[in-house]
Amino acid sequence: MIRSVVKGTGSALPARAVSNDELAKTVDTSDEWIVERTGIRSRHIAGEGETTATLATEAARRALAAAGVDASEIGLIVLATATPDQTFPATATIVQDALGCNGGIAFDVAAVCSGFLYALGVADSMLRTGAARKALVIGAETFSRILDWEDRATCVLFGDGAGAIVLAAEEVAEDGPGILATRLHADGAHNALLNVDGGPSTTGTVGKVRMKGREVFRHAVVNLAEVLAEALAGAGLTPADVDWVVPHQANARILDATSRKLGLPPEKVVVTVDRHANTSAASVPLALDVAVRDGRIKPGDLVVLEAMGGGFTWGASAVRM
Ligand code: UT7
Repeated sequence: MIRSVVKGTGSALPARAVSNDELAKTVDTSDEWIVERTGIRSRHIAGEGETTATLATEAARRALAAAGVDASEIGLIVLATATPDQTFPATATIVQDALGCNGGIAFDVAAVCSGFLYALGVADSMLRTGAARKALVIGAETFSRILDWEDRATCVLFGDGAGAIVLAAEEVAEDGPGILATRLHADGAHNALLNVDGGPSTTGTVGKVRMKGREVFRHAVVNLAEVLAEALAGAGLTPADVDWVVPHQANARILDATSRKLGLPPEKVVVTVDRHANTSAASVPLALDVAVRDGRIKPGDLVVLEAMGGGFTWGASAVRM
C-alpha cells in the first residue's frame, strides 16, 4: 500500500526568548500566575527581519537536511498559518521560492492552532493520490504580531516559531511506517470564543486575537480526547498502542486533562509549552521535532498528533515513524 512516510523533521524559533518576568514588566501579570495556569515559562518573539516565511523556510531547510532530501525533489508545499507574511500570495509560495523548488504545488491552509493537522491531512491525501511524490508540510506563525499586548488574558499565552516535516509517498507493508489515519473536524458555531477582530473583507485591518479562555479550555479537553480516540480507532489501534502523544501546546493543564481522559501516562506526552508557549499551527511540528532530535521518538514508534483551535477546528493523526 502507498502511505505518506515522515522522512525528516525540522523547526525554527526566533532568536529572542522572553521570560514571564520580562513580560510582567509591561503587562499586569506574574510568573507565578502564568506558570500555575498554563505551564508557560518562556516564549520566543520574532524580531526585525523574522517573519512567518523566514521561520518556515529555516524549519523546512532543517527538515530537508534531516530527511536527506534535496529541495528540488519537493513537488508540494502545504503551509499552515494564521499569520501569513501577506494577505496574498500564500506564504507557502514565498517559502517555495526561498528554497528554490519553484514549479510544484504550494498553498496555505488556515485552521489556526489545528492548521498543521489540516495541512497534514491535505498533503497525505494529495501524496496518496499521486499529485506529488514528496511534500513539505509546515506550521509557522508569528502570533506576536496579532496579539493585543494590553490584554493580559491572551498576550502571555502565545509565542512565535515554525516546524516542518518532509513526507514521501512510499509503498510500505501493512505494519510499515507512514500516516495511518487522520481525523479532522470543525464547528463554526464557536467563532466568538476565539477569533481575530479584523480581516481584509470586514475591517480592512489585520485585527487582534480575542479569546474566552475558560470556555475554549472546556471544549478543548472534550474535543481532543474524542478526536484522538477516533484517529486511533481509524488506524485499528487503542491508547495502549501509543508510544508518544505530540499535542498542540496551548496549556499544560489541557495536556494533563486530555491524557487523563484517555488513560495515557503523562510520560508519553511531549511537552514544550513551558519554553515555546502556544505557537498555534507551529506547535505540533515544533514539539515533534524536539522529541525526534532528543531521541525520544524513534523509527517504528506510534505517534499521535492532535490539536484544537479557532473555528473551532480540531484534529488528530496516528503516524508510524
Ligand atoms: O490554542 C487555541 C486553544 N486555546 C486554548 O486552549 C486556551 C484555553 N484556555 C486556557 O488555557 C485558560 O483558560 C487560560 C490560561 C487562558 C486562563 O486560565 P483560567 O484558569 O481559565 O483563568 P480565567 O480566564 O478564568 O481568569 C482567572 C483570573 C481572572 O481574574 P478574576 O476575574 O478571577 O479576578 C483574570 O482576570 O485570572 C486573571 N488573569 C490574569 N491574571 C494575571 C487573566 N490573565 C491573567 C494574567 N495574569 N496574564
